[in-house]
Amino acid sequence: HDDMKQIAKYYDDTGMLDFIGVVGSGCDTHNTLANVIPNMSYPPEPFLHLAAGIKEVVKVPVLHAQNIKDPNQATRILEGGYVDMVGMTRAHIADPHLIAKIKMGQIDQIKQCVGANYCIDRQYQGLDVLCIQNAATSREYMGLPHIIEKTSGVKRKVVIVGGGPAGMEAARVAAERGHDVTLFEKKDQLGGQITLAAKAPQRDQMAGITRWFQLELARLNVDLRLGTGADAASILDLRPDIVVLANGGHPFIEQNEHWGAAEGLVVSSWDVLDGKVAPGKNVLVYDTICEFTGMSVADFIADKGAKVEIVTDDIKPGVAIGGTSFPTYYRSMYPKEVIMTGDLMLEKVYREGDNLVAVLENEYTGAKEERVVDQVVIENGVRPDETLYYGLKEGSRNKGQIHVEALFAIQPQPCLSEAGAGYLLFRIGDCVAQRNTHAAIYDALRLCKDF
Ligand SMILES: Cc1cc2nc3c(=O)[nH]c(=O)nc-3n(C[C@H](O)[C@H](O)[C@H](O)COP(=O)(O)O)c2cc1C
Ligand code: SF4
Repeated sequence: HDDMKQIAKYYDDTGMLDFIGVVGSGCDTHNTLANVIPNMSYPPEPFLHLAAGIKEVVKVPVLHAQNIKDPNQATRILEGGYVDMVGMTRAHIADPHLIAKIKMGQIDQIKQCVGANYCIDRQYQGLDVLCIQNAATSREYMGLPHIIEKTSGVKRKVVIVGGGPAGMEAARVAAERGHDVTLFEKKDQLGGQITLAAKAPQRDQMAGITRWFQLELARLNVDLRLGTGADAASILDLRPDIVVLANGGHPFIEQNEHWGAAEGLVVSSWDVLDGKVAPGKNVLVYDTICEFTGMSVADFIADKGAKVEIVTDDIKPGVAIGGTSFPTYYRSMYPKEVIMTGDLMLEKVYREGDNLVAVLENEYTGAKEERVVDQVVIENGVRPDETLYYGLKEGSRNKGQIHVEALFAIQPQPCLSEAGAGYLLFRIGDCVAQRNTHAAIYDALRLCKDF
């Protein structure tokens, strides 16, 4: 930092600079790059002190961005005189109407960036920059709206089942369209899998996604039925015009019968994160998905002081986690001595005395290994819960079908403009097939924007 101050002063003295932008850290390794776009594991403005140090020695304005997310925080920094100008990059990706909302006195309606880094991690994979919680960002050209206009058509009764990301977005969008919306959620809080994700160390800001929806659904007077499971009868009692199922699924730990889920030999990542099952002392986490949940549950268990090995049949646990996100998992997990092992498939689990024996098979050689542990936790994705869908499908006007071409083209579902009695039925999110938070929200927005 002292060297940088000297360098900054030298250039400032040349009189050739207009301003200096200060970025904390470097981009030379995965680990330092993660600092540049600080994810949710960092505190607010973690490198402001570096920018403030440069400002002390130069005359030109100093600009700084890095985890400055909300207008009050920005105001505090500027009023404190730490820098002359703040940049907010991801804050605008999460909510491109941030400035307009400040001007209109709608600060409570700003969708605040939660630092999930879905945006930048996709960029580093050569993909388009999408936001985990805002499916319209980068898709404006396709006609996906940030601002949902009220319908000029009929007001409909819309019933949504499930208060995870798909259901919350469906409720928000349908209510913005001016419809009468009821949302059933069997748990006593909104969030679905976001609530579980937020339980892991360093991941608590995931809950910010739910918090924004909570505020919006209250503002839009959505009839929230929390702690209320829905069945076909309770849904049809409301005489809906449209039913949207976003009721998710369950952890798919029964896929391989030799894992012994039916005998209670293994538990799911959800059970542990949810607090239904206490973490063991010597734990094997088997993760076939290699995304956030497996790493999060391993870190969660290790954080309680347990000895943890996370094993996958893929190249490495967490291999699908993006470039600015895996380093902060590693920083958390290596000090807890979590072992990360690739290329081993979990063949079976059996009980031996008080212990469990996990039999692992090398993907490439077929060689077998065993681990003796007191708990086996499986992260094997989500199996859709389809009972409700099949219970409502026959009675629906559209036989529960989504017109996929229209959906992909961001066009209205043709059945919305076809006359007929009874209800339309759609399903979105994990109750169709497993997907991530962004995709669940995208499903809801592109379907419900034309209700
Ligand atoms: C999707 C995305 C793309 C970015 N591209 C660039 C870039 O091309 N050049 C650059 O110097 N910084 C880039 N950045 C870094 C930002 O300019 C900024 O320094 C960083 O995101 C921290 O600010 P924030 O906390 O307000 O997001 C990018 C950030 C994001 C999220
Ligand atoms: S993806 Fe995450 S980090 Fe990026 S803008 Fe959206 S909330 Fe912020």
